[in-house]
Amino acid sequence: MELLRIHNNQIDVIEDLAFVNLVSLKSIQVDSNKLKHWNREWFTNTTKLEIMNFQNNKIRTIPRRAFAMLNKISAKDVTLDNNPWKCPCLDRIAYWVYKNNGTIRASSECAGGRIPVCAYPSTFSQTCLEHVDEDVTKKYLKNLKSLDPPLPEYCVLPD
Ligand SMILES: *[C@@H]1O[C@H](CO)[C@@H](O)[C@H](O)[C@H]1NC(C)=O
Ligand SMILES: *[C@@H]1O[C@H](CO)[C@@H](O)[C@H](O)[C@H]1NC(C)=O
Repeated sequence: MELLRIHNNQIDVIEDLAFVNLVSLKSIQVDSNKLKHWNREWFTNTTKLEIMNFQNNKIRTIPRRAFAMLNKISAKDVTLDNNPWKCPCLDRIAYWVYKNNGTIRASSECAGGRIPVCAYPSTFSQTCLEHVDEDVTKKYLKNLKSLDPPLPEYCVLPD
């Protein structure tokens, strides 16, 4: 299996180890679901993965060393936008992708460059704090919804 598409479902939880040992998997599309959490155990030993698409979910935090496992994979093309990221956490991912010679691809469906990519906590911090910060999520969603002209419905997360 080289391509796994489970996009556009109502998936809110993916079990630990869900995608382990998929030694041929090159591309996984998990976009447009309702995931809130990123789990670093998902991709253990899935070493050929090049494309991960997690855009349009509800991911707010990533766990410590979320991408540590990914030292064993070579993600070349990562799409993560349209999630209420905290900016320092997104920076961390961007740095990891850069170090691995990968590319973060902007979503095209949901109006590309107009989408806010992240929000800062009100107490400014450059550290990726791992607790969920409702304030950041609200700020992000407010910006997303105040775009003019508005984004298509499916691009805007429900509250
Ligand atoms: C990953 O691969 C190693 C080496 O083959 C193996 O020992 C380990 O059990 C695998 N991990 C998982 C979660 O299957
Ligand atoms: C990234 O590319 C550079 C230059 O080609 C290379 O030296 C380095 O080993 C690559 N890093 C990874 C993680 O592939």
